[in-house]
Amino acid sequence: MKRLIHLSDPHFGAADPQIAASFIETAHNLDPDLTVLSGDLSMTARRSELDAAARFIDQLPSPRIIIPGNHDIPYFNHPYDRFFRPFRRYQQRIHPDIEPVYRDDIFDVICLNSPRPFGFHTDWSDGRLSRHQISRIAGHFAETPAHPCRILVIHHPLLELKVSGRAVVKPLAALMAAMESSQLDLVLCGHFHRSQIAAKSLTGSWKTMISQAPTVCSTRLQGEPQGFHEILISAAHVEIIQHTFIDGNFQKTADFPFEKTDKGWNHALQA
Ligand SMILES: [Fe+2]
Ligand SMILES: [Fe+2]
Repeated sequence: MKRLIHLSDPHFGAADPQIAASFIETAHNLDPDLTVLSGDLSMTARRSELDAAARFIDQLPSPRIIIPGNHDIPYFNHPYDRFFRPFRRYQQRIHPDIEPVYRDDIFDVICLNSPRPFGFHTDWSDGRLSRHQISRIAGHFAETPAHPCRILVIHHPLLELKVSGRAVVKPLAALMAAMESSQLDLVLCGHFHRSQIAAKSLTGSWKTMISQAPTVCSTRLQGEPQGFHEILISAAHVEIIQHTFIDGNFQKTADFPFEKTDKGWNHALQA
């Protein structure tokens, strides 16, 4: 059995330092095999915010995978940085690679960068993937046909939130088709600051588990407290455990078991 910790959206610049410290302690107690942070490290990519995020990341258990979110692009008051070099500050202070890949004996991970500095749509905080990015999923996993656990990390969410004006990543159908044909086990994402866990399929031929993590330590709450997901992985069984910050520390608040079938992952309680 392997343990993965999935956290998201710490938003340094609007982070609660006591909750951040509590998370670091909890994460080390859990002793994960892999730690994944799915974006929005800062508020507006100010250098001081990204420096605080870098200090937080340095304390996370290793190995770790980090990607940027839409808040890690400079705000409109820095138009040159936003439009011409949107990820430069992130790359200087966090990591040069905004789409890292990771492989060990269990995990095979690809990250895709969904934030965009501008676009031909009204809400520039929305996430987009290019056709080329989506096509890289098949190429990446074709290199390791027998690898046990296939994971995609992306900042923007796949599971809808029933609130107007909050959009899932686009183009969702093309992304889900690629997930299905490559038989992905798990997608890790964030952005909505809400914990959502489900297994989804486009056509029914393969279901992928989706972990949408809440904010781990920011004060930008969207109707629920800070939290993170602990994911226990074995060959045919996965448990995604919600941890929620209640009464001064992180506590287990829900448990979503999944079983592997020949058509992907089924929520065990719904099977
Ligand atoms: Fe966020
Ligand atoms: Fe975001």
